[in-house]
Amino acid sequence: MGTAQRRPPAAPDHKTGHDLLAVLPDTAEIRDGRLWIGGVDTVELVREAGTALFVMDEATIRHRLAEYIKWTRFHWPEVDVVYAGKAFMSLAMLRIVADEGCCLDVSSGGELAYALRAGFPMERVYVHGNNKTETELLECLEAGVGRIVVDNFEEMERLSALAVARGVTQAVLVRVTPGVAADTHDFIMTGAEDSKFGFGLNEGLAMEAIKRVIALPGLEFEGLHMHIGSQIFALHSFAKAIEVIVEFMCEIHKETGVAVGLLDVGGGLGVAYGVPDEPSTIEQFGKVIVDGIKEECERHGIDTPRMAVEPGRSIVANAGVTLYTVGSVKEIPGIRTYVAVDGGMSDNIRTSLYGAHYETLIANKADQPREMVGSVAGKHCESGDIVVNDAQLQCPAVGDVLCVCATGAYCQSMSSNYNKQVRPGVVFVADGQWRWAVRRETYDDLMRTDVG
Ligand SMILES: Cc1ncc(COP(=O)(O)O)c(C=O)c1O
Repeated sequence: MGTAQRRPPAAPDHKTGHDLLAVLPDTAEIRDGRLWIGGVDTVELVREAGTALFVMDEATIRHRLAEYIKWTRFHWPEVDVVYAGKAFMSLAMLRIVADEGCCLDVSSGGELAYALRAGFPMERVYVHGNNKTETELLECLEAGVGRIVVDNFEEMERLSALAVARGVTQAVLVRVTPGVAADTHDFIMTGAEDSKFGFGLNEGLAMEAIKRVIALPGLEFEGLHMHIGSQIFALHSFAKAIEVIVEFMCEIHKETGVAVGLLDVGGGLGVAYGVPDEPSTIEQFGKVIVDGIKEECERHGIDTPRMAVEPGRSIVANAGVTLYTVGSVKEIPGIRTYVAVDGGMSDNIRTSLYGAHYETLIANKADQPREMVGSVAGKHCESGDIVVNDAQLQCPAVGDVLCVCATGAYCQSMSSNYNKQVRPGVVFVADGQWRWAVRRETYDDLMRTDVG
């Protein structure tokens, strides 16, 4: 879920918490030298709730969801904003997503189970996955999900048989790979669609898949889905992919006489992890996507379909931070200083997986300048267990509260129990109050599934 980001310089940048507000939640402020989020003093919060701890700002989440609705429907009324649950999922989060009038992307039986438990409206659920099991497909039909995005020929046959057996018709999108791969600042036309997801346009596979879905009983071909990548800054990558896919919609109409009723362009809008990062805004994204589809449809003389966008990271990344307690500061003269915290790759795998970089600050020294550069090290038995390489920090001391910014996406959702580490809890903050959304695990939780 991401790409490597820019590395900071090795010299201290002397920034204070005030300079980091662009990557922190909308409600973040520095008061009395401390970091506050959602009207809650994070240092006081840690005293009550402990560390390691994910803190999610409800106002930021609601604001981003509302912005997506506003700036997509501003251009075309029929747009679904589908929150990509893989970025961060909890029951409290799903209730907010439902409350804001958004849809939900789930990509496993477990994510569907969360949606059911949260009382999420099933007609607003889009189901993804490149290898949905028969059990998962059955669960989807039983739940009455809105749409299933089919990914391969075997799956569509399986789904058709299950739908016929239950006497239902399931709305289906076909996932296609438009041959446009985006990186943060540009895109490439890949030609060969080497992806485990979906059907390539070039070899005729996508057209074959659509004809198959149209022919199969129990399935209703509703439209197309694509997803060109994540952490994308260059909006022209999306524009290029839209050009390609709308042309394909025309071909479908010519060859089959069937109109594409829904075009889902996936997620991928980038976010600011570092202070110099300047991702496109949701407003700009809405214009490029929705106007782009409208214009391409007009150019080809076909009806503009219903649309869907599937943001994950851009809803939650900057809404969240991780708070740790500093346990030791180890200076290796002339080489590096390691600042060890009570978490690590079990709550943030993105650094070791993608070389991700984060802004950091000491929450109880938030108005002081960052005067040292060191590595924030986790507590796991892996030398690669680094949370932030070359982290800029206020001078750290044992017991300080170390805040890693913009960890709301793909951290808690990718967390593990490596070394039998209990996973951190998640608190939501709003209007000066905090509440547990996910409590911290206990040792009993760790052993709950052991049967021997
Ligand atoms: C199918 C699909 N939709 C949406 C998303 C969300 O992407 P992002 O979090 O970059 O917005 C992903 C993430 O990989 C995805 O695979």
